[in-house]
Formats: sequence, C-alpha cells, structure tokens
Amino acid sequence: MSNLARVAVLVSGRGSNLQALLDAAADPWFPADVVQVVSNVPGAYALERAALAGVAASTVVSKGRAREDFEAELLGHLDGIDIICLAGFMRVLTGGFLDRFRHRVVNIHPALLPAFPGTHGIADALAHGTTVAGATCHLVDAGVDTGPILAQGGVAVQDGDTQESLAARVLAIEHRLYPMCLRWMAEGRVSVEGRRARVRLLPGETRWVGG
Ligand code: GRF
Repeated sequence: MSNLARVAVLVSGRGSNLQALLDAAADPWFPADVVQVVSNVPGAYALERAALAGVAASTVVSKGRAREDFEAELLGHLDGIDIICLAGFMRVLTGGFLDRFRHRVVNIHPALLPAFPGTHGIADALAHGTTVAGATCHLVDAGVDTGPILAQGGVAVQDGDTQESLAARVLAIEHRLYPMCLRWMAEGRVSVEGRRARVRLLPGETRWVGG
C-alpha cells in the first residue's frame, strides 16, 4: 500500500504552479501524490494540465454562490485528502472549511509576505520601489495571505523591470518553493507555534531560496 500523502490542488487559472507540483510528484521518491485538481473557474487551463497528467479534475463553480454553498460542494471532491495546495486559487476559504484541514492547506503568493498581500503583489512591490521582490509559500488561515510562513525566495528588482518581467522571475522562484514546501508537509516536518511555522530541516536545506 502506498503511504504517499494525498494532495488536492485548487486552481483558477493557467496552473503553472500546479504543473510544478505535478512534475515533482512524478518522481517516485517524492512523498506526495497529486490525486485531485479542482477549479472554481470553468475552462481553466490548469484543468488541461491535470488531464494530461492523468489526474482527476473537476470544476466547482464559485461565481454567484454563497461561500458555504460553494465549499459544501467542494468538500465532496476532497474525501481522503491529506493536504490541499492552493495554486492561483482566487477564492478566500472560510474558517469553517479551514478547520476541517487544520494546518494542512498551503498557498503560494507572489510577494515577500507580510508585505503586499492580496491580488497585486508584483505591482505593489514595483509601485513601492522595493529592491527585492519574491514569493512566499505559507499555511493558509482565515485571513488573506496571513498564515504561517513556510519558505520564501527572492529576486533583485532591476531598473526597467515591468510587471511582466518581474512576475516571470518571481514565478520561477514559486516553482522551486512550492514542491519543496509540499515535501516538508508530506513528510510531517512542519509544526505551528502561534503564528510561526517550524520546519525540521535536513542538512543543506534552507527556508530561503535566492534568485
Ligand atoms: C501565482 O503568481 C501565484 O503566486 C498566485 O497566483 C499565480 C498563479 O499562477 N497565487 P499559476 O496559475 O500557478 O500559473
């Protein structure tokens, strides 16, 4: 019997982070298996990525629905799931939903939290003239991008960077961070103390990825 952690990935769009997780999980030594993809947006390209990888994929429409109603249907697709990864999932989950998966929901965000939460992380970093930008992988709590930080990675902001150029470099960091953090979760190496996550690191591992 397989003792791999069973992972569901929730998506809304192109799914490049989903792809990074699928690619990592294709390695037989990776401790987690992506077994379910759910999109809240019909036709999201991430659904095609799931199909290509042979992973069960479904759509649960959120638009125009009460959160509780949406989440009740979503839960029907998450039976036996150990870890939920949010990968460009543009919907805030309720505390009630998160309680069912306490400290088992992970997100990736394109900014160095706690700076620049929300949907404009890259634009906000540029607008503030920061000299370093980056990505954060964190556990999800009921706030928006506020949960305990698992790992972060940074890139220098160049003169002349546009949102597109900076987003591309940050995205490359995201794709490194997310599989790394999922591994830690799946191996049971993450614990939470107050608002901080602790990770039992192996020799050579760090919680910071430089760009
Ligand atoms: C990423 O930038 C992620 O940090 C943010 O949404 C974007 C999703 O991109 N939460 P993708 O769908 O994974 O390509």
